[in-house]
Amino acid sequence: MTSKQPEFRRYLVPINTLSTPQFFTDCLVIGSGVAGLRAAIEASAAGSVTLVCKGTLEESNTWNAQGGIAAVLGSDDSFDNHVADTLATGGGLSDPDVVTQVVTEAPALIRELIEWGTDFDRVNGTIDATREGGHSRARVIHSHGDSTGRGIAEGLIKKLRAADNITVLEQFFAIDLLTGEDNECLGAIGCRANGNLQIIWAARTILATGGAGRLYRETTNPDGATADGLAMAYRAGAVLRDLEFMQFHPTTLYIAGASRALITETLRGEGAILRDRDGNAFMKDYHPEAELAPRDVVSRAILDRMLRTGSTHVYLDIRHFDKAHFQKRFPLISELCGSFDINVSKDMIPVRPSAHYMIGGVRVDRAAATSIPNLYACGEAASTGLHGANRLGSNSLLEGLVYGKLAGSAAAGDLRRRDPHLHHRSFVFEVPHSDRSRLDTEDVRNSLRALMWRNVGITREQTHLIEAQEIIRFWQRYVMDKVFETPFGWECQNMLTVALLMARAAEARAESRGVHFRKDYPKTDNDHFQKHIDLS
Ligand code: FAD
Ligand code: SIN
Repeated sequence: MTSKQPEFRRYLVPINTLSTPQFFTDCLVIGSGVAGLRAAIEASAAGSVTLVCKGTLEESNTWNAQGGIAAVLGSDDSFDNHVADTLATGGGLSDPDVVTQVVTEAPALIRELIEWGTDFDRVNGTIDATREGGHSRARVIHSHGDSTGRGIAEGLIKKLRAADNITVLEQFFAIDLLTGEDNECLGAIGCRANGNLQIIWAARTILATGGAGRLYRETTNPDGATADGLAMAYRAGAVLRDLEFMQFHPTTLYIAGASRALITETLRGEGAILRDRDGNAFMKDYHPEAELAPRDVVSRAILDRMLRTGSTHVYLDIRHFDKAHFQKRFPLISELCGSFDINVSKDMIPVRPSAHYMIGGVRVDRAAATSIPNLYACGEAASTGLHGANRLGSNSLLEGLVYGKLAGSAAAGDLRRRDPHLHHRSFVFEVPHSDRSRLDTEDVRNSLRALMWRNVGITREQTHLIEAQEIIRFWQRYVMDKVFETPFGWECQNMLTVALLMARAAEARAESRGVHFRKDYPKTDNDHFQKHIDLS
């Protein structure tokens, strides 16, 4: 392969304000997950808000969240415990002030969700809390059993729909953030459901575009998690941080041909046992907390067991559960197992790890501000400093809620303080015609996902990381110069952009820490790497 650099283009599409429909809004929110919904509600206190999302309001990682949301509610727990657990899991990279900020905000925001219509499950009138790996207390509360994300999103959507100054545009694909002469964010250009380009000028923009799981062949994430927000922010010049930290969830249903559905960790919190193909319960051999060890430990233990036993998966054993209780407490998993003829009283559930959560993201400060003026970020797309090098289960819905509110409130504060001076701008960006051959974009995407799984997966090493970058650069040479006209193509360009950055960051971190495990550097190296890796 030659070393010719792929083209870097500031915008994926040509822009001409003379021929593109446009409108103005005080605050543009991109994303309808927990972070975007919460941000929009908050920002609407000070002006008009437009919320866009690339599918329906309900299509998001949030909607699919199962296990729960972490919050200190019981008298047998304390903020100090939750802070200590989060810091211990974060591998020395969490920001203690951010951790304290998020943990202490949790109870008030949970009460607010209840007021807005989220039903958290109760036992004898008290909100039920369970455990997940790394939590020293039962503080994971849940809704609809194992459909917590849906429960939270439904409450937020109801509140959002009731606000008269929030406009929702579904099936709107945000292509790029528009920036001005001082690199300030001016809004975004996107594509409406009818296929037409649309410019939305905004005094403030909030990026809440979620994660990057779809960059991997094996993932818990729904189709939309293609890292668009990270790629857009990168093209606009924002600082991205810690992209090497992709969290792998230990237990995804492994049935050939079936989608890789998550099997919630709260099952292990309530006594499920991991067994290898020979029936041995193996987690005690790897960590004193066994099934409730931190996720990175469990994922690597499963991988090791798969290699030792020459198997493609291990099993989750819940045969000892009371079946009636299981069906009531975990209706989603119960239905899923039933649909594959898995009788959980007799059969074990085949599972293996897969890509789950992007810990890194657009770097933000404690008010959710990015390095680009007028641009805020929140939720999985942001790197706030909460998770450090490893995320504690059920802390991400919480982070989305807290930072969504902060981003919305910061945008609202800006709008109240200043006249936004929204005015028509003339903007022209031309893209040279590409005479290269047409592409099978689906093949590029599938090949990329397989490459990321092989070379930038649960365990990494330098030669594989360098090889991944070379291959991605080669693909970029004939994908990035194209002008696509559909989300499928723009997503492909975004995936290539972010995959390269992830491989670069993973190569740069020549140590093992949290979810990032380097076979060639298996130890943590605090002398050189107790720091973040910024890319811009
Ligand atoms: P998302 O909820 O992913 O929303 C992203 C939004 O951005 C979507 O509306 C999407 O349409 C929009 N978007 C993206 N790109 C574009 C674009 N180009 N143009 C327009 N719109 C765009 N966390 C927990 O804390 N507890 C759990 O129990 C839990 N369970 C999980 C289970 C599963 C199966 C998965 C996948 C994740 C789980 N997580 C859990 C993680 C958690 O769900 C996510 O981290 C969190 O919901 C992210 O919220 P968000 O608002 O940042 O993004
Ligand atoms: C799960 O339910 O196992 C997912 C929880 C999370 O990712 O926080």
